[in-house]
Amino acid sequence: MRKSFPVEDLARDERFVRVPLATRINDPRNAQAADSGSSGRRGAGRLTPERPDAPDAARALMHGIFVGEIQALEGAGRTCWDFEVGSGNGEGIPEVPFELKLDMARQCWDEARHCEISIKLSGHMGTELGEFSENTFLYEAACNPDPVLRLTGVNRALEGLAIDVFNTMREFGEVAGDPVLEFCEDWMLADEVTHVKMGSDWLRKLTADDKPRQERALEFQRVVDKLFSLGGFRGEEDDSPVRLARRFRELAGFKEDEMDTLAEIAKEAREEMEAIAEANRPAVAH
Ligand SMILES: [Fe+2]
Ligand SMILES: [Fe+2]
Repeated sequence: MRKSFPVEDLARDERFVRVPLATRINDPRNAQAADSGSSGRRGAGRLTPERPDAPDAARALMHGIFVGEIQALEGAGRTCWDFEVGSGNGEGIPEVPFELKLDMARQCWDEARHCEISIKLSGHMGTELGEFSENTFLYEAACNPDPVLRLTGVNRALEGLAIDVFNTMREFGEVAGDPVLEFCEDWMLADEVTHVKMGSDWLRKLTADDKPRQERALEFQRVVDKLFSLGGFRGEEDDSPVRLARRFRELAGFKEDEMDTLAEIAKEAREEMEAIAEANRPAVAH
């Protein structure tokens, strides 16, 4: 049986529409969103019920969560399968402790439940599966051949983003007066904190005597985090659509300086997005 599974071969039916991340970030309509945002030129702004586009923005975010859950399930499942059990670090197929596989199996169970919750929540919000596009950068991060880099990129960066997104949606459900959305997000948020903690713990445990490998893993996390900041989608400013959930990240094993670095990465991603939106403005005007 083959190890590792290319993103192109993921099982999807005809309802799913796959779009590359670059296409989404370079979409000239981002400039329009910036123009119509509450903050003038700095993006569509924080997700609140007062925003005229709040129902569509919330539905799009929920659909994004749903496809993210599928890919998180696929990634954790691959990590259970792709590596052998042992303590080797790089000759042939890398080895991982059996307990790491147990953690990934538990995560699969959680993500499968999240898929079900997310698709039901999407229906609750009036969305059909495939109404919004899917990009597969989450799963692509889960294809890293080094299990330490994979867990750091996926469980700390991707699952960390899930913490920020779920916290945002939980707050949106609360202020919008939707207890179904609020409580479902709260339950999933609790699982995501556990998944990020797994990533933090295994990173530290597996690289305790291998600082270069730890540094490579943290560098991979920074690259993934920048992608996951989605050109300013996640940040710490008042009008960031998704806010960095510092308290929950702390519970998941993030140190203060790591969150400061993440905030800085998010700021850079946002500035780059604004430059792209500015460059695309003439295309939208015509
Ligand atoms: Fe999840
Ligand atoms: Fe997760």
